[in-house]
Amino acid sequence: MARTEASVTDAHASSTDFSRPLLAWYDRHHRHLPWRTPPAETKLGVLPDPYRVWLSEIMLQQTTVGAVKRYFEAFVDAWPTVEALAAAQTDDVMKAWAGLGYYSRARNLKKCAETVAGEHGGRFPGSEAGLKALPGIGDYTAAAIAAIAFNRPAAVVDGNIERVVTRLYAIETPLPQAKPEIRAHVAAALPHDRPGDFAQAMMDLGATICTPRKPACVLCPITHGCTARREGTAERFPIKAPKTEKPARRGAAFVAVRADGAVLLRRRPPEGLLGGMTEVPGSAWTARHDGVSDDTAAPFPADWRAAGTIRHVFTHFALELSVFRAELPLNAPAGDGWWSAPDTLPGEALPTVMKKAIEAAIPGATKKRRKG
Ligand code: ADE
Repeated sequence: MARTEASVTDAHASSTDFSRPLLAWYDRHHRHLPWRTPPAETKLGVLPDPYRVWLSEIMLQQTTVGAVKRYFEAFVDAWPTVEALAAAQTDDVMKAWAGLGYYSRARNLKKCAETVAGEHGGRFPGSEAGLKALPGIGDYTAAAIAAIAFNRPAAVVDGNIERVVTRLYAIETPLPQAKPEIRAHVAAALPHDRPGDFAQAMMDLGATICTPRKPACVLCPITHGCTARREGTAERFPIKAPKTEKPARRGAAFVAVRADGAVLLRRRPPEGLLGGMTEVPGSAWTARHDGVSDDTAAPFPADWRAAGTIRHVFTHFALELSVFRAELPLNAPAGDGWWSAPDTLPGEALPTVMKKAIEAAIPGATKKRRKG
């Protein structure tokens, strides 16, 4: 009887007790990231600043580590504390965010900083429930901040972790239906002494070893407990429900260039897609194909010349914009927008789609120039 029990326990141990070899690997091979406190310090009880953890996690939603680093450094240089960010001008925050995409994140970032500074004495709550009550913080981000900044035993599941876990257990259920099952496995494996390092170790493993293509299983610290590895099927996982094709929308963008090189800009309405960001005048973006993408949609009459077509894929649709350019005299009015000179244009809160449109009309205009 004892033997049977022992073998059941062993089988269980081989699947859930991967936290120890994983953490040992993380201690030696963790990535050095600007928002991270290395394991040598967290093991001594030194935890990272919750403000930096929160800021990084918001930036890392939908954006890669490589792209985020530069933005993260610029934000903490400009606003080193949550109080500083709360006191910042919203427009300056939108400008600093420009290019990271998903601009509702930036608006919620500012609101969240104001709430933490104004209602929580500048301290982030440490519980998942307290964090989730703040603007812009959902299940994933609350768990990540609770684990990483407060060492609370929260089950953190991002895309990397989904890949690791679906391989470890050869989970045939497609995503997103498999999410609760994945979460349960992560919760069962959580080491209560180092939940923050565990979450980050899982992320690092997914990013550097358990990669989508050609995973480096021979280097993996938990390869022995991995079902997909044993069966030679790692690349099949995670299984995903088939994607539906994104609907197409079309529109026109108008780049008015004044004789001194300034470009006419305006601000988008505060709510909705790209809310509060800066744009060149343009038509509505519609699913129709009946003339909205020609210069009949121009904001005012001018000698509009076709300057090309740009494409940009948003979460819910793929956009094709016809770009037009016209030369305007120095005394041309700005209407309800403003003229942005060539040296201020690169610092405007222009989302990537608008940078593409302006670049089609004036190559190089949105690129930041090096000083000196
Ligand atoms: N992706 C999301 N959060 C992360 C983190 N804290 N470290 C590395 N990659 C991440």
